[in-house]
Amino acid sequence: MKDTVQKYRDYVITSFTKGVQPIVVEKACGTVITDVSGREYLDCFAGISVVNAGHCNPAVVAAARRQMEKLVHCASYVYHSPPTADLAEKLAAIMPSPRLKKTFFANSGAEAIEGALKLARLYTGKHELIALQASFHGRTWGALSVTSKIASPSRKESAFTRPIPGVWLKKRRASTTPVNSWTGVTSTRNRRPASI
Ligand SMILES: Cc1ncc(COP(=O)(O)O)c(C=O)c1O
Repeated sequence: MKDTVQKYRDYVITSFTKGVQPIVVEKACGTVITDVSGREYLDCFAGISVVNAGHCNPAVVAAARRQMEKLVHCASYVYHSPPTADLAEKLAAIMPSPRLKKTFFANSGAEAIEGALKLARLYTGKHELIALQASFHGRTWGALSVTSKIASPSRKESAFTRPIPGVWLKKRRASTTPVNSWTGVTSTRNRRPASI
């Protein structure tokens, strides 16, 4: 039986990070992650911010178990699902404006970004987007297009250097540079993008 690190080398695509940490994670509880040898680590970034209630929080585990035992999947955008309606109502109650009361449910961060890009274009009727340098938004095409480390004009030509049209990269100090240099536009002055 191959060990986990070797199986990663052989079967897992890891091109989205420079390198996988040489730690094989067995379990986690609260803020502590334990590897297969029993060594403990303090998780300082809450599982990339998606387990802010702590790893295996008993209340979260119990709620997930309750739901999994009743219904695992029913396509909440095809049928009405009580947990979907309840969460949307709760989110509407904490929005900063009563106009922001509807929620688009997505299955990943990248899909949420895609939704935001589409909404910005739909609402403004404009198509250009300004992305900030040192940003990361996900691995789908639109999210990748506003992700600076992929969109950077200095990056070696690769399959990913052609983002969706109309994306501009805002450098930290220097002026804004076009990511899509083939659009022939060299300044964002007087531009009115759909979203930043
Ligand atoms: C800031 C940020 N945006 C978007 C994403 C993409 O989320 P997902 O991997 O769920 O598509 C990530 C994921 O690490 C992220 O850190």
